[in-house]
Amino acid sequence: MADRVFAVLGDIHANIDALERVLEDCRAQGVTDYLCTGDVVGYNARPHECLQKIRELNCPVVMGNHDHYVSSRQNLADFNPHAAAVIEWTRKQLSVEEIMYLRNLPFSKTSMGITLVHSTMDNPEGFGYVFDHLQAEAHFVHQVTPLCFHGHTHCPMIYEKQMGAVYRIDAQDFKLPVGRKYFINVGSVGQPRDGDPRSAYVIYSPKERMVRFRRLEYDVAAAQKKVLEAGLPPRLAERLALGQ
Ligand SMILES: [Fe+2]
Repeated sequence: MADRVFAVLGDIHANIDALERVLEDCRAQGVTDYLCTGDVVGYNARPHECLQKIRELNCPVVMGNHDHYVSSRQNLADFNPHAAAVIEWTRKQLSVEEIMYLRNLPFSKTSMGITLVHSTMDNPEGFGYVFDHLQAEAHFVHQVTPLCFHGHTHCPMIYEKQMGAVYRIDAQDFKLPVGRKYFINVGSVGQPRDGDPRSAYVIYSPKERMVRFRRLEYDVAAAQKKVLEAGLPPRLAERLALGQ
């Protein structure tokens, strides 16, 4: 465990251009182990390729809401039409075996003392959003390990619990003090929404107790082209360049 270097990545959202750039960086950074916070598919145009890459990593993966929508038999009438169109399209791109893989993903998982969840541990199947320390409080009641990684908002962030109080800390390279709990949002590989279009993921080194937030430029134009060629809503291509 001590010599391991973890890459924690999620919200890939079928963006193969971004994912390949991130995996290249992981290799350069000496990553030994991968953890995935879910939402491998949805929004962008290469769900099959992204699933294949993630499965090749042979790592823990948890269920994101898009993984869930694509692989469940949920009626899409309640979704906004753009979202429903992409989910329908994605369902058609995947094999039955791939759909079953997504359907069987766990909503949360603890591996080597680290918890993974797409949204929050108080209701992993509810896919609630955490944007502030108050929303993180309910989660911390159910976080039993010192460290938990999540995603879902597509905005990197650190939440800290110490002496019963919860704090929000802006994403930054951070040495984790002993005796506190951390709930860390790793941001999004394939559709960042914090105003920065660069791909986001986190490197965690247990030996140094360091968390590093990586941001990487990738070929946004190539990803946009794939979205448009697939006939997906143009807004999904536009937002990639804006980081929204
Ligand atoms: Fe997502």
